[in-house]
Amino acid sequence: MKRGAWGSRAGFIFAVTGSAVGLANIWRLPYIVGENGGAAFLIIYLLCLMFIGFPVLMSEIIIGRSTQTSPSGAFLKLSCSKYWSWIGKMTIMTGFIVSAFYSAVAGWIFGYLIEAFRGNLSNFQNAADAELHFNNLMHSPLWGLGFHCCFLLICFFILILGVRGGIERGNKIMMPCLILVLVFLVIKGLTLPNAILGIKYLLEPDFSEITPKAFMVALGQSFFTLSLGQGTMITYGSYLSQKDNLIKSCLPVVAMDTIVSLLAAFAVFAIVFSGGMKPDSGPGLIFNTLPLVFSQMTGGYFLAIMFFLLVLLAAITSEISAMEPVIAYLIDEKKWTRKKACLFTAGGVFLLGIPSAWSMSVFEGFTIFGYSFIDFMSFLASSILIPLGGFFAVILVGWVWGVNNTLNHLKLGASKFFQKNPWASSYFWFCFKYSAPILIIIVFLNAIGIFNL
Ligand code: PHE
Repeated sequence: MKRGAWGSRAGFIFAVTGSAVGLANIWRLPYIVGENGGAAFLIIYLLCLMFIGFPVLMSEIIIGRSTQTSPSGAFLKLSCSKYWSWIGKMTIMTGFIVSAFYSAVAGWIFGYLIEAFRGNLSNFQNAADAELHFNNLMHSPLWGLGFHCCFLLICFFILILGVRGGIERGNKIMMPCLILVLVFLVIKGLTLPNAILGIKYLLEPDFSEITPKAFMVALGQSFFTLSLGQGTMITYGSYLSQKDNLIKSCLPVVAMDTIVSLLAAFAVFAIVFSGGMKPDSGPGLIFNTLPLVFSQMTGGYFLAIMFFLLVLLAAITSEISAMEPVIAYLIDEKKWTRKKACLFTAGGVFLLGIPSAWSMSVFEGFTIFGYSFIDFMSFLASSILIPLGGFFAVILVGWVWGVNNTLNHLKLGASKFFQKNPWASSYFWFCFKYSAPILIIIVFLNAIGIFNL
């Protein structure tokens, strides 16, 4: 059976950008910027992208492209050791876990889009009203389960159509829509009264806010937003041909991901400040604060629809990429058909996502190590498994396969770039071998409490 492959470089860029741009850009970034002091945080975040995020992304794409197989086989091929194939399997498991809780959250977003259509998000009188509405929905098991299921069904139907016919085509349709909606929201946001206060908050750094904790959050964000450490980029890279120029294919992705994050932050902050609110309500920022502002402005009904549509599109293109490593594994290693692999993966993700979807209803009060089910899954994936997956990917290319092999592979199809930019080899050499692995380890040990920054 022929393996899936991208139809064109643009197709790859759309798909990888679709994976990268997700809830982390539109939902998480604005609230962590709000909690960690605005512009100063953005500076650390950009540094993390440059010295850790981008090199890890390149490592994963290289691992995939050079081996043309799913993460488990890819780690085995490059290292020639079966222990490494277990690490590959761990990254696939991580993708499975991420898909499950991500789908539960995306289900809430889907539910909120329907609420927006029904006009229920644009007539709140005060903050308590908005919160009550949110709690009522969250306490309904049927609501959480139903939308988790509907959201997964959409992803399943895209995935089953294959790499080119489903993932690539879907992204080529959804990503331009997403950009249009985002640009509309930014323009609308910036023309609201007092929007300038939000922009000021984002652009005036307060350096006293640069703390070790901000650094940790920024690193976690750069990993999650680029879909690293969990097989996605290895799998997407494995559908690339050896001729492609990896620099030209990957730089636009990081640039687009960052631009979308910044635009989303501008839109959200402009809207929030124009309503006289503060962006410090954490995850509730888009579920409670924004709908309250929508209720107070003209055209709020329409804006609420646009906003939740934007987040839903971003979530679909990311969810399919989180599920694809599992599917690729079942096809490449177990020789399953794509249909069977998609059915099995979607079924498994649905089941594992149920306790997350019900974390505030049926599973309310149920905790693991003090975390609610969904927070535990998210902690396990984002603070432990994802950094580990990213760490092993750079160790594999920088130390095991060897940095020279890696650079030679990187130069395939990009030799002109390296001739014109002699510093690029040193930059990648330094990142693969030192900056990325060392910084990840420091942050990881800190996150699990082994040492405190
Ligand atoms: N990058 C996605 C986001 O920003 C999340 C994601 C992680 C998607 C891992 C796929 C795999 O929301």
